[in-house]
Amino acid sequence: MGENAELRVGDQVVELPVVVGSEGERAIDISKLRSQTGYITLDPGFANTGSCKSSITFIDGEKGILRYRGIPIEELAEKSSFLEVAYLLIYGRLPTAEDLESFSGSVIHHTMIHEDFKKFFAALPKDAHPMAACSATVGAIATFYPDSLDPRDERHVEVSIHRLIAKLPTLAAYAYKHSIGQPFMYPQNKLDYVGNFLRLMFGNPCEEYEPDPVIRRALDLLFILHADHEQNCSTSTTRLVGSSMVNLFGTISAAINALWGPLHGGANQEVIDMLAAIRDEGMTGRQFVERAKTKDDTSRLMGFGHRVYKNFDPRARIIKKACFDVLNKLGVHSKLLEIAVELEEIALKDDYFVERKLYPNVDFYSGVIYNAIGTPSNMFTALFAIGRLPGWIAQWVELHGDPDFRIGRPRQIYTGPTKASYQTVGER
Ligand code: CMC
Repeated sequence: MGENAELRVGDQVVELPVVVGSEGERAIDISKLRSQTGYITLDPGFANTGSCKSSITFIDGEKGILRYRGIPIEELAEKSSFLEVAYLLIYGRLPTAEDLESFSGSVIHHTMIHEDFKKFFAALPKDAHPMAACSATVGAIATFYPDSLDPRDERHVEVSIHRLIAKLPTLAAYAYKHSIGQPFMYPQNKLDYVGNFLRLMFGNPCEEYEPDPVIRRALDLLFILHADHEQNCSTSTTRLVGSSMVNLFGTISAAINALWGPLHGGANQEVIDMLAAIRDEGMTGRQFVERAKTKDDTSRLMGFGHRVYKNFDPRARIIKKACFDVLNKLGVHSKLLEIAVELEEIALKDDYFVERKLYPNVDFYSGVIYNAIGTPSNMFTALFAIGRLPGWIAQWVELHGDPDFRIGRPRQIYTGPTKASYQTVGER
């Protein structure tokens, strides 16, 4: 007999089963609450609500632990590669050498975009935000694959997965090329995933392009660190939109939009803009931190704080170290990195941040690396999207295989007017 919770509501007492996860996390299962009592739960921002059971990613926010399929992020960061991590997340296990070769080969062979689709970019203004371009093109590219969009068909799902992982970097790079007026590059199959993306972004048809191994490795690492983060805003979007049984392209297009927001993935662009503003306005780190604490000032210390982590975000630790390594190897001196380090030191000793348990998150240092390798700041969140894509896909696949699958449809407590009569215009 499992553990139960007892809930007294009105003159009723109901027993609610307790569900225990493999790491000992406990949840009260309220799925029968409304049918048994007529009550629903209310949890703005879902801070206390588990929306699913999942075996993909484990986070302990108090201890600062992150694992994909049980494997600590630190080990994956050191030993793995992005496509291997993508495979691990989506298929639930590390690939054999043959699995990885076949997966990588298939992905590389799907990187090209239909010639007609390139015209889509011509309709976008030069200063279109790349996240708008990515979301629009990922949604629109589904029009080329009407025969393989059924989320219940395993073969359709498999080819859509490979197409999406392959084409999102191409679409993101084309959004960038369009913005700077350079020709779109064709993918080159002899390059690996990240090398190919770097060439699509930074190469041009007039010259040979050889990806710099330091930059290639740095980007691969950043993609690994962004690959999944359980039920965050864009992943919950993936699950909610996916639960309507729409195809994978429509789902991922919605997830990209959710990621774009400055409280979520858009924070990486906000961080670099914040660091640049501090530099350009000659503000001190202390002055900015004071501003970020002031309630009537809308500035926050971007790249700080997290709903789940009340300790160091383990990804931020790895990225901070990588930041120093990469900049050192590239011989780049970054004033922005100096400002970031100063802000971190001040905030970590400041009572406001200490009391609220606000630590640097994944977005605090990542932009300094993107910046050092020549990426414009409005592309940062698109890079996050490329990294997060395998996580969204893994969660979508898990949702569709879940025996508890139902369309996502929360309830509400209505607080509007009670029944009222319609008044004609003359009566108003
Ligand atoms: N700077 C200043 N104050 C902050 C910050 C910050 N970065 N983050 C939280 N606070 C304060 C907030 O004002 C509140 O104070 P009080 O209790 O006095 O009202 C308290 O800390 C709790 O904050 P919250 O907004 O209720 O926390 P939340 O869990 O709802 O939000 C968050 C989490 C990440 C949206 C928030 O910390 C934030 O806005 N951070 C800056 C944006 C950012 O870096 N986002 C990236 C998140 S990690 C990667 C990702 O999700 O993509």
